Amino acid sequence: MNSPVAAGSALVDRFGRVATDLRVSLTDRCNLRCSYCMPAEGLPWLPAPHLLTDAEVIRLITVAVRQLGVTEVRFTGGEPLLRPGLPAIVAAAAALRPRPTLSLTTNGIGLARTATALRDAGLDRVNVSLDTVDADRFAALTRRRRHHDVLAGLAAAREAGLRPVKINSVLLRGVNDDEAPALLRFALANSYELRFIEQMPLDAQHGWDRARMVTATEILAALRAEFTLLPDPAPRGGAPAETWLVAGGDGLRVGVIGSVTRPFCGDCDRTRLTADGQVRACLFATEESDLRGALRAGADDEELARRWRAAMAGKRAGHGIDDPSFLQPSRPMSAIGG
Ligand code: 5AD
Ligand code: SF4
Repeated sequence: MNSPVAAGSALVDRFGRVATDLRVSLTDRCNLRCSYCMPAEGLPWLPAPHLLTDAEVIRLITVAVRQLGVTEVRFTGGEPLLRPGLPAIVAAAAALRPRPTLSLTTNGIGLARTATALRDAGLDRVNVSLDTVDADRFAALTRRRRHHDVLAGLAAAREAGLRPVKINSVLLRGVNDDEAPALLRFALANSYELRFIEQMPLDAQHGWDRARMVTATEILAALRAEFTLLPDPAPRGGAPAETWLVAGGDGLRVGVIGSVTRPFCGDCDRTRLTADGQVRACLFATEESDLRGALRAGADDEELARRWRAAMAGKRAGHGIDDPSFLQPSRPMSAIGG
């Protein structure tokens, strides 16, 4: 990735990877309880004083863009639409120069009401999580009867011009592992770009089991039984998804993110900021670097940038899920940001 900041200022690690894509988690809370993410009763949420304020989030994004060469900012959660300050944070990020690309990963609940305002604030794109086309299955999987809200959110994002509208789907053995073709039919009929993500060991309950995981290879075989997938002429770059053009699909693509069986760590260009102001070099990192403490102790932008660079410099080569010594990070996905 090309970074607009001077050499030596960017977020470079010892393997020469440059992080230009910042994921900011805005809350660890969620209004769904997806079984592969959270227990039914939810989690002990971060206490309010630990959360970065809107002004603190904006300050750190500004440091990332101006001093560290970040060119893309993605807002995640938990569920980022639960953060009241989201439109103002988006607007502040859109006002930065060079202007970063701004996107949102959401479960889609509430997007029907907010898509237009978010676009007006400067949001460029959304990824909506949807694992099933069936309302009853959705209720079983997420423990909430909100399927119609997600569909309305997707449609509103498309009408607002947040293009392309992407759908992220996770397939679970014995739950929705038969749904790859149905999800693709739904996506094609509605002009959404579908991405399947292999389930990763990031659930709060530590219930992930590699032997039960639905693999990228399996997902592709299921899709190919019904669709012709053509090689995608677009370069993959640092993108985690392998993508194909769907024959007869009006130029729409389908992608598979083989996080576990086809890792892309060597091309990773991400840096992560948790809702409580910790930098993580990787989803699977076991260390974090506390920017909130530094910020509240009065650190200037240069000092914050220096700490951020130091946190990324030690990034490991890979996630090591296949290593016998692999340890699941102590924080679940909902507290790290997707
Ligand atoms: N493995 C893979 N994807 C996950 N997501 C949440 N938990 C996991 C997991 N353990 C997905 C969500 C959402 C995105 C942020 O990550 O479904 O689409
Ligand atoms: Fe919420 Fe996303 Fe976790 Fe589902 S996977 S409970 S939508 S944070």
